[in-house]
Amino acid sequence: MSIYGDYIKSVIRTVPDWPQSGVNFRDITPLLQNRAAFRKLVDSFVHRYQEMDIDAVAAIDARGFIVGAPLAYELGCSFVPVRKKGKLPFRTISETYTLEYGEAEVELHSDAFRQSDRILIVDDLIATGGTMLAAAKLISRSGGHVVETATIVDLPDLGGSQRIREAGYGVFAVCS
Ligand code: PRP
Ligand code: ADE
Repeated sequence: MSIYGDYIKSVIRTVPDWPQSGVNFRDITPLLQNRAAFRKLVDSFVHRYQEMDIDAVAAIDARGFIVGAPLAYELGCSFVPVRKKGKLPFRTISETYTLEYGEAEVELHSDAFRQSDRILIVDDLIATGGTMLAAAKLISRSGGHVVETATIVDLPDLGGSQRIREAGYGVFAVCS
C-alpha cells in the first residue's frame, strides 16, 4: 500500500452488479477526473520505481495504459503495450487467461524490448490475477526480467495477488 493509498481508495467508486450481477466494479474514472488524485496516483508509482532502473513499463490494455504512459514518461523509460488479442500488427506472442467475468487473450510484440530488460508491468486492478499473470508470463517468455507487477487496486479476497506472488512475481498495490 502506498502513502496515498487511503486517499486514492476514497476517490474510486464501487458500482454494484456491473457488468454482471455479483460483480462490485471498481470504477477509477472519478479518480481520473480529480487532478490532485490523479497526480498523487502517478507520483505513488514514480516514488516506488524511480530508483529501480526500469527499462520499460509494460502496461495492460486498456486501463493499464492510463497510468503506464505517464509513469514511463516520468521514469524516462520506454513503454510497451500488452494488448488484447488482434490489436498488434507485427509478430506477436500470446497467453490466454480467465477473467472475473469472461475469458480473454493478451499479446505482446516479439520485439517489444531487449533480452534481460528490466520490465515493470502495470494495470489498474488485480481481481483473479489472470490478466496480470498472463502478462508476466508473456514478458518472461520473451526474455524480459519482471521487476514487479503494479496495480492501482488489489482485490485480495479474489486471491489474484496471492496467485501472482505464488508464481514468483512481486506485487505492489496503491490500495486494496
Ligand atoms: C480488467 C482490469 C484488469 C483485469 C483484472 O480489464 O483492467 O486488466 O480486468 O481482472 P483479473 O485480475 O481477474 O484478470 P478488462 O479485461 O475488463 O479490460 P479493460 O481494461 O479494457 O476495461
Ligand atoms: N476487472 C475485473 N474485475 C474488476 C472489478 N471488480 N472492478 C473493475 N475492474 C475489474
